[in-house]
Amino acid sequence: MSVTIGIDVGTSGTKTLAIDETGGILATATSEYPCSHPRPGWSEQDPELWWTATKETLRAVLAAGTFKPTDVAGVGLSGQMHGSVLLDADGGVVRPALLWNDQRTVAETAEIEDRAGGREALIRVVANRSMTGTTAPKLLWVRRHEPANWEKVRQVLLPKDYVRYRLTGTYATEVSDASGTTLFDVANRRWSRELMARLDLDPALFPECRESPEVSATVSAIGSKATGLPEGTKVVGGGGDQPAGAVGNGIVRQGVVSATMGTSGVVYAHAEQLGFDPEGRLQRGCAAVPGEYHAMGVVLAAGGSLQWFRNELGKAEVALAREQGIDPYHLLTGEAALAGPGAEGLFFLPYLTGERSPHFDADAKAAWIGLTVRHGRPHMIRAVLEGATFAMRDSLELVRDMGVAIEQVRVSGGGARNALWRQIQADVYGVDVHAINAGEGPAFGVALLAQVGTGAFATVPEACDATIKTVDSTSVDPKAKDYYDRAYKIHRDLYQNLKGSFRDISRLVERGL
Ligand code: XUL
Repeated sequence: MSVTIGIDVGTSGTKTLAIDETGGILATATSEYPCSHPRPGWSEQDPELWWTATKETLRAVLAAGTFKPTDVAGVGLSGQMHGSVLLDADGGVVRPALLWNDQRTVAETAEIEDRAGGREALIRVVANRSMTGTTAPKLLWVRRHEPANWEKVRQVLLPKDYVRYRLTGTYATEVSDASGTTLFDVANRRWSRELMARLDLDPALFPECRESPEVSATVSAIGSKATGLPEGTKVVGGGGDQPAGAVGNGIVRQGVVSATMGTSGVVYAHAEQLGFDPEGRLQRGCAAVPGEYHAMGVVLAAGGSLQWFRNELGKAEVALAREQGIDPYHLLTGEAALAGPGAEGLFFLPYLTGERSPHFDADAKAAWIGLTVRHGRPHMIRAVLEGATFAMRDSLELVRDMGVAIEQVRVSGGGARNALWRQIQADVYGVDVHAINAGEGPAFGVALLAQVGTGAFATVPEACDATIKTVDSTSVDPKAKDYYDRAYKIHRDLYQNLKGSFRDISRLVERGL
């Protein structure tokens, strides 16, 4: 039996699991931790929390009794992307890490495009536009606002790579997570010394970078004592949570795309070529498959829109569901099913927290549009489900624009667990959607990468083919598809027509009474 372990260092907790070479789950454990928001828009975490959770979950998985610690051939690491872990000359943490959802770096984000010679010039170097979430503007922010801290920084790591450092004593990363730093030459799969020079950042601050399934280090004596993993256990590169989750969903060949509807929604496409979009409307990066790439669109409030409806307007359903011991979403989607496709002309824009792809607009706002006296709650809920799905289609259309034919869409997350929402997705995307057997996401993906890196499989697609199967398919209803194709054109126009008003509303609120 070839046992590998996957560790996913997430924002709300760390999940660790062990698998065998058939993809069978041998043990899982999760440990949660908080995120701190010292000021509005700021988001930080102490890296020590990740290490504590890693130790706890590794010990729990090793104690499950389904395999022996000495059976473990390798470990894979995954984690929240874009964070900045700043270490001093002794490997000590200088300040809490700034996370992917931290919004303090608006000025530095613009500065990076300026110093790079403009947006298009930046995209030519790092394949991405500058975004508040990524590592590079965070470094510029600390340098400007906390010079005493910046003085001490000798090493910059991504969140999962800090866990690697504690486990192995080695500073290392891999191409898929490095792609999310805005400092990485994605096309050539190496750090961009050119951009670092323009930003006055010393290349020595960044760790060695390899392909995702490659062995990057082995567990040290200290790491072994802390976790119970045998000293010398191989640790492969792993991947950022999205590229690693793609491996866990089997999105490792061009034509297969995933639509993951969690709080945020992510459309992820595997691509053999990187290509070039002068506007950078999709996030581009190296796939966890050596030599290949990905394109990703992020809808900030997909499932989050339904969650908002539940919290603010579904209190009665929440109470009833509690009495009946069922999930309130079951009641809400049951109500939505009473309205037909298109909710009788009611639209919902899901921009509750602004939007990333394709608008990159922090001022964008949510709205129901088209309300008439005939509409009731079923239409409003259905419009929320459809609006979030139209927003996902915006990203799918960008993938099609890249010239990637979409042959199969694999759905996961909350939007895949509900039959009505699966049907809406098939009809709005215009392709049959498929759910798969593996539901463990990034931790499973990096456990598979460890299977590849330690020799159980020759390639990542081979590992996915052996372990991941389609278990449920939802076919397109041609009549609903035709209706949604026409409705989608209106959805696209609505944001364009309203964006000026969204900006004006933000300024109005900022100025106050
Ligand atoms: C990807 C992204 C998130 C974070 C946190 O671009 O911002 O998926 O990695 O999960």
